[in-house]
Amino acid sequence: MKCRTDEVCLKELVGMVRTPLRFVELVLGAKPSKQQSSVLKALEDGERRIAIRSGHGVGKSTLLAWVLLWWISTRPGAVIPCTAPTAHQLEDILWGEVVRWHKAMGEPLRSLLTVTKNSVRHKSAPQGWFAAARTSRRDNPEALQGFHGEHLAFLIDEASGVAEEVFEVAEGALSTPGALVILAGNPTRLDGTFYRAFHGEREHWATFHFPSHKSPLVSTEYAKHMAARYGESSDIYRVRVEGEFPLCEADTLIALPLVEAAIERAPHKKEVPPLVYGVDVARFGDDETVILKRRGDHVLSIEALRDLDTMAVAGLIAASARAEKPSLIFIDVIGVGAGVADRLLELGLPIYQVNVARRAAEPERFDDLRSELWWRTREWLESGAPSLPPDEELAAQLTTIKYSLTSNGRVRVESKQERKKRGLKSPDRGDALMMTFASPVSALPRIEAGREFHKPFDRELGY
Ligand SMILES: Nc1ncnc2c1ncn2[C@@H]1O[C@H](COP(=O)(O)OP(=O)(O)OP(=O)(O)O)[C@@H](O)[C@H]1O
Ligand SMILES: [Mg+2]
Repeated sequence: MKCRTDEVCLKELVGMVRTPLRFVELVLGAKPSKQQSSVLKALEDGERRIAIRSGHGVGKSTLLAWVLLWWISTRPGAVIPCTAPTAHQLEDILWGEVVRWHKAMGEPLRSLLTVTKNSVRHKSAPQGWFAAARTSRRDNPEALQGFHGEHLAFLIDEASGVAEEVFEVAEGALSTPGALVILAGNPTRLDGTFYRAFHGEREHWATFHFPSHKSPLVSTEYAKHMAARYGESSDIYRVRVEGEFPLCEADTLIALPLVEAAIERAPHKKEVPPLVYGVDVARFGDDETVILKRRGDHVLSIEALRDLDTMAVAGLIAASARAEKPSLIFIDVIGVGAGVADRLLELGLPIYQVNVARRAAEPERFDDLRSELWWRTREWLESGAPSLPPDEELAAQLTTIKYSLTSNGRVRVESKQERKKRGLKSPDRGDALMMTFASPVSALPRIEAGREFHKPFDRELGY
């Protein structure tokens, strides 16, 4: 039931200072899930330091938007700094919910607030009674700093990805007596403030754990799909469905926190290194054909195509390459990829044929080229520079690759067949990325149209 008249609303509002659940139901007209209600009840009980870890889609960002509207509507002079690691998470997602629920507010409360792209201001004191959205950046960690007031509320979405520098700079403010702090997120990292809130510093926080499969907001298909695709024991399932921190087991080649960090990292704006493509061609009707584009440390895009024959794939790549002029196109030539490579060579494009079953460039360290290139991908992610698009499928594929050491101490990445036995499909998107490390562009002689490159990987030259 929503407020019907101004009188009811304003009278009710006085009591709602302490009853966010009632505010959310009555003023916003929302129906919180049990999980969301439990946090609102904790606020009602006076909890002021709250940490929520969950799987995907349980309504955390929505909950933060509700708390924002409750806090600003019930506390004169409220100041509410809000942050998330990327502009997308903050402006599109969190602020999207703020805009949506502001529109749903009953009058006259709605008209008391002015919502812009990165703020919500109370009309009676726009400069001293507001919420502000600021993206958290490692290189500019001031997102939560410089806010004062009697009624402070810090709302931090995707808190696991917020750089520790941001928490350090705001340490004093975050511990202001009476200030509300809410950390919400998928538990992607095994360090940092968010991790400590559930471990070493647990006694200072009211902690909540919301698995996706216990939320009515998440379809039952989601958990089933994730389990079927990646296995219930995979880190991606733990983090995205169960809301558990990753295990990062020793036989996992690429730990999930590395991939999450790359997804949250902004690309270098100034960098204009050579553009390369990585192409993994699927058999007709089989898996996906993947065309991945990488410029230096930045993966620009991943196109996954289905049901195209080799000529159609070659045509698409040729059209794209003519427009974008990549320095190299890496193609997996085991199987159907060979046909695509032949056609593109015929068209005079700079093709690098990758046969991952070949000997590694460093055979004393790696069992085959495939193991070596996967290892390079791991090293590249560890370098702290790469940025990846928010592609769930790529993240899942990268983090479910297992490896072992052979009896003579060489790294060996599991084969596609072994992976299949574990019930997992071929990591097409990961393969397209890994292939782009088969040769640094700078290692090649001047690239001539139609030239075929077979140079082995050269460690000294970097990528
Ligand atoms: N109580 C609710 N009733 C109806 N829809 C809701 C409710 N809470 C959230 N939603 C909707 O459910 C979807 C998921 O919510 P939200 O984005 O807040 O989840 P999240 O936990 O932040 O997800 P993620 O893990 O991706 O960050 C959104 O479309 C949101 O508008
Ligand atoms: Mg969210």
